[in-house]
Amino acid sequence: MHVDDQPTPRVLIDRLRLERNIAAMQAGVSAAGLRLRPHAKTHKSPFVARLQIAAGAVGICCAKLGEAEVFADAGIDDIRLPYPVNPSNAGRVLALLDRVRLSIIVDHLGVAGAWSETMARAGRTLDVLVKVDVGFHRCGIDPDATGATAFVLGVARLPGLRFRGLLSHAGHGYHAHSEDELRSIASREAAILADLRTKVEAGGVEVPEVSVGATPTARFSTAQSGLTEMRPGNYVYFDRTQVALGAATFADCALTVYATVVSKPAADRIILDCGSKTLAADVARGFVQPPGHGAILEAYGSVHVNGSLLVERLSEEHATVRVLAGHTPLEPGDRVRVIPNHSCVVSNLVDRIHLVDGTEVVQTLPVAARGQIA
Ligand SMILES: Cc1ncc(COP(=O)(O)O)c(C=O)c1O
Repeated sequence: MHVDDQPTPRVLIDRLRLERNIAAMQAGVSAAGLRLRPHAKTHKSPFVARLQIAAGAVGICCAKLGEAEVFADAGIDDIRLPYPVNPSNAGRVLALLDRVRLSIIVDHLGVAGAWSETMARAGRTLDVLVKVDVGFHRCGIDPDATGATAFVLGVARLPGLRFRGLLSHAGHGYHAHSEDELRSIASREAAILADLRTKVEAGGVEVPEVSVGATPTARFSTAQSGLTEMRPGNYVYFDRTQVALGAATFADCALTVYATVVSKPAADRIILDCGSKTLAADVARGFVQPPGHGAILEAYGSVHVNGSLLVERLSEEHATVRVLAGHTPLEPGDRVRVIPNHSCVVSNLVDRIHLVDGTEVVQTLPVAARGQIA
């Protein structure tokens, strides 16, 4: 079926780009001697997870238990939740442990203790990694705090838990202003983890895994020593932010929103049918922050990002596009592809994605784990 035979807006995934992105990340991570465990938050699709595993990934990551349950139902059997799962979810975790190899993170002694008690009481063992804050200042123990090593040693000795290692997410890379800044974030991350690992091992506890993961720093993390695993997620589709952070080019972006021009109220203004319900309202980030809500491709492959068309404003069902050049040949009924600022949130907004070879839809796939917020 031709893409124009379907109504819009639609989320299209370019099959060749998807496969190329999966192969390229796998090749880079494998060449560095590391294991790849992609974060599935970007695609939320068992089909894509299977492609990643077939290419060599050891398993996947999910943020939420609901996502893990969907992937477990789909037969993915090794799932890591680099998310501070609360022990109030113990029943669901125990049920998942019957079906998959599961691991979570801990960064709080009370929470680790509660998991320990629950698991010991149930006669089960839960794999845990200690989350380390390497500069993002979201979750994670402060590696510079006096008690950091003692915290890890304490977790490693808790019954019912099997300590697997240290894990971090350099989300502050999204705020970097240059390649050099990204490189130094990646090397500092590896250095922090290596230092903590040395101290923990000096305390008599082995640290089998050291896991990092973020798409902006991925190309620099492969050059670091002391790591065992990488967990990038966004690389599978990429987006306008990754292009602005030097992680990809527009030609690598596999996910686009296919939209129709539905109005042209003025020569310098057109309206697309993809509002915030499809494109999401995330701003782009980058060394130089790109303005607006996405990059419009008038025709496949020709990019008008900081050029003639600016997605200036989003309402729920409208994208208001300013024609910077003053005029455009686009008229109501014409279709465009928009590369969103953030592809992960776009996946979460649609029930289905359409795999395309050029302009031909080759497969329609459910975004099975979308909307799994708990
Ligand atoms: C803990 C964790 N690990 C890995 C990732 C993947 O990072 P990215 O989306 O930059 O590829 C994320 C993304 O939010 C994350 O929160």
